[in-house]
Amino acid sequence: MRHEWSNRLTFILAAVGSAVGLGNIWKFPYITGEYGGGVFIFAYLICICLIGLPIMLAEIALGRRGKQSPVNTMLQLSLEAGSHPSWSLLGWSGMAAGCLILSYYSVIAGEVMAYSFRAGSGMFNQQTVDGVKGILTTLVSDPEKLLAWHTLFMGVTVIAVAKGVRGGIEKTISFVMPALFVLLVVLVFYAMNSGGFEQAIDFMFTPDADKFFYARDQLGQYLMDAEGEKIFTWKPMMVAMGHAFFTLSLGMGAIMMYGSYLNRYVSIGQMALIIVSLDTVVALLAGLAIFPLVFANGLDPAAGPGLIFESLPIAFGNMAGGRLIGTLFFVLLFFAAWTSAISLMEPTVAWLTESKKMHRVKATVWTGTVIWFIGLASIFSFSGTTLGDILRILFSWFGLEYLELNHWFFKQSLFIIIDFLTASIMLPVGGLLIAIFAGWVMERDSTEREFSFNNRYVYPVWSVMVRYVTPFLVFIVFLNISGIFKF
Ligand code: TRP
Repeated sequence: MRHEWSNRLTFILAAVGSAVGLGNIWKFPYITGEYGGGVFIFAYLICICLIGLPIMLAEIALGRRGKQSPVNTMLQLSLEAGSHPSWSLLGWSGMAAGCLILSYYSVIAGEVMAYSFRAGSGMFNQQTVDGVKGILTTLVSDPEKLLAWHTLFMGVTVIAVAKGVRGGIEKTISFVMPALFVLLVVLVFYAMNSGGFEQAIDFMFTPDADKFFYARDQLGQYLMDAEGEKIFTWKPMMVAMGHAFFTLSLGMGAIMMYGSYLNRYVSIGQMALIIVSLDTVVALLAGLAIFPLVFANGLDPAAGPGLIFESLPIAFGNMAGGRLIGTLFFVLLFFAAWTSAISLMEPTVAWLTESKKMHRVKATVWTGTVIWFIGLASIFSFSGTTLGDILRILFSWFGLEYLELNHWFFKQSLFIIIDFLTASIMLPVGGLLIAIFAGWVMERDSTEREFSFNNRYVYPVWSVMVRYVTPFLVFIVFLNISGIFKF
């Protein structure tokens, strides 16, 4: 017998644990900062409601019906619907996306672990902006240190996954989430009095379409074409949509996987609504805690992946009880990242045990090792290595001469490339296919049955969303994909 969650609270805890993580507290603020604030948040919220929510319902329903890892669930459901078994490719690309995402997720989570020690040792006390920036630079330009933390994080993730989904997650989440929430609220209150609150509200909630739709350089200046016109870019739109998938753990089968452990008698509509609301609230609170500090201290909102590591320590270093609060905050953030990382790995491990009959421990160690290796790419990215640099080294190993390619693509780091490929392309494509599969391929009877314990309005609304609205919106965003290759 396959185990199921002990009750519906457990499923909510696990799914919220998967959804709430670095995506909310690390990624959301820095991409909001990079893409100009208000319009980005607006686009993200629209995507959460019209794309994320329906796909969340679809993933839970599919998982619960298929009761296996995403690859085998898709295989079985496609046969059941009399369709082609190649739908299981969805599960495959999901496993690939999960492993790629976890490869950098683990490096950032490692930095979070490092920061909890730094906070605890009083390193942030009375620090200035320059001091805090220095602490971050020292860490990221030391690949060995990053590697050690990355290894430690992968280690604890492997242990948790090897022990099986249920062991540990329930207990961890039930104290981590409330505590993290309380600390975020404390930080928002602190930020309110930091002197940058009004500016932050303005930044986050006043639309400025120019900053969203026109390309800017590292200093925030608009790029111009030969005629002196600003250059239109569609990339922020793709990032906003991609982040809706990322933050809700959708599009790669993580929620499908968790849905497969869910028993028949719970309302998936209610479940999805709770998960999505909690996740969104946490992200907005993180923004409200961080941006006031950014503006009050003259930091650059577009500073990139280092944003939380540059802004929060200033607050911890200067508030009463900051040493304790800072330590707690980073420790809790580590736990939140950990419960998300588990869900990134679970589909691959479940597939290896089901289809390859591998022992769970062995499957986990193998998967963890592969991901650990891919993580090296991100470690070097954070100290400034670009794709061009790597190609140059590879070429020289083979005694070939590397011709400098001037396209912007070669000036990006592998972290940037992996992140864009997974979050902005693979997850939305996966989600699009899930919506099409649930809405058009599966028989109405089988999907409707999954909703039969729901309020009777949920199914018809969901069905229209997942057949028309959601696929149409994802498609529209992709229609303009060529718009990102212009410069
Ligand atoms: N949602 C998590 C976060 O916001 C990350 C995550 C966990 C994820 N599982 C996922 C992202 C599956 C995409 C797909 O931190």
